[in-house]
Amino acid sequence: MNICDIIMKTKRRTELSENEIRFIVDGFVSGEIPDYQMAAWLMAVCMGSLTEKETGYLTSAMRDSGNVLDMSEVKGVTVDKHSTGGIGDKTSLVIAPICASCGIKVPKMSGRGLGFTGGTIDKLESIPGFVVNVDFEKYTQIINSVGTAIIAQSGNLVPADKKMYALRDVTATVDSIPLICSSIMSKKLATGADCILLDVKTGSGAFMKSCPDAVRLAELMVKTGKSAGKKCRALITDMDEPLGSCIGNALEVIEAVEILKGNKKDRLTELCIALSANMLEIAGAGNIDQCEEMVRRAVSEGKALEKFSEMIEAQGGDIGFINDYSEIFKAEYSYEVRSCTDGYIACINSEEIGYCSLMAGAGRKQKDDKVDNSAGIVLNAGKGDKVKKGDLLMTIYSSTVVELSEIGNRALDAVIISDTVPDIMPVVYKIIK
Ligand code: URA
Repeated sequence: MNICDIIMKTKRRTELSENEIRFIVDGFVSGEIPDYQMAAWLMAVCMGSLTEKETGYLTSAMRDSGNVLDMSEVKGVTVDKHSTGGIGDKTSLVIAPICASCGIKVPKMSGRGLGFTGGTIDKLESIPGFVVNVDFEKYTQIINSVGTAIIAQSGNLVPADKKMYALRDVTATVDSIPLICSSIMSKKLATGADCILLDVKTGSGAFMKSCPDAVRLAELMVKTGKSAGKKCRALITDMDEPLGSCIGNALEVIEAVEILKGNKKDRLTELCIALSANMLEIAGAGNIDQCEEMVRRAVSEGKALEKFSEMIEAQGGDIGFINDYSEIFKAEYSYEVRSCTDGYIACINSEEIGYCSLMAGAGRKQKDDKVDNSAGIVLNAGKGDKVKKGDLLMTIYSSTVVELSEIGNRALDAVIISDTVPDIMPVVYKIIK
């Protein structure tokens, strides 16, 4: 096989065989295919596309480039959830204990913050003692005894994606639906759950800015997951403003606990309920109405919060913060951002808010930076809210001395206030089965 012929075929939109796709992936991982030829092929994919069949072959070849976890030691049905990312997305912290308390197993391998989006692992590390690097045996043991464990990705999972993603990042080849699909689905397939629920975000703060693109990505991911033998479903959800009112590590853990205590009834809570109910349904726990009822009861009867505490303790964490948030939130400095005018909030630019939170210390400006667990932003108003000049829009927190007023000005610019009431879209736009 010759890589130039393969690049030419993709350029001319001739469908590749499974062997040809494995040749590219294996050759790139082993170093036989150099970066410049892989970059040429990736660009040919971006300019043309791949068929569904080719995307499936690519996903399997990437999955098989490293270890594929064998979850057969876990008793019962396992369900994983993946979000395509956004600002303030702490749903994993809520849905994992909810679903586990309803009797399904939720194995969860999560990542750290990337750019201006936060990561579940950084959030969990704001809990004193919580261990995210757990070996596979302990991981399956916690899932069997508690029902869920959330750990950092480790081991040799999908090395092809690590190498391909790094190359895509610097060759303007990230924004291709089949490449995004195979990147995400290869990792999900390698982590071995029986069922996969995908939360595909759309809106200003999402990878997929337009709803039709989000739907195309979701449809392709669901088909790819199903043809690999998984039960798979996707929810297309709103990311046109930050999710919930807290952005930052400890702040998001606290917000998740507030939902588990049943104290919140907002769009974030609505999304957590929809995601959990769909996870239960694909795992065969009942129809969607029954599953939603189970989820609501798990929260109102305190079982989901109990499960959250069990998970924290099983991973070495101190649960004292659940009743005393000051144990994890210790920001010394704060800055209030107030409205300069009267009107309705028409838009809150999520990416900008994420960036401001990062600048306050909640994320990394450089790879090895230490995150400030208490840094972040609490929003006091959301899209559609009526505000008056001088009203508090948000508070920015940090435990180190940073230029909070400069960050505050940038955060203020991220909020667009208009004379007219904006259209408010539902938090779940569509379900792809
Ligand atoms: N997230 C991923 O894991 N891969 C992509 O290609 C895009 C988003």
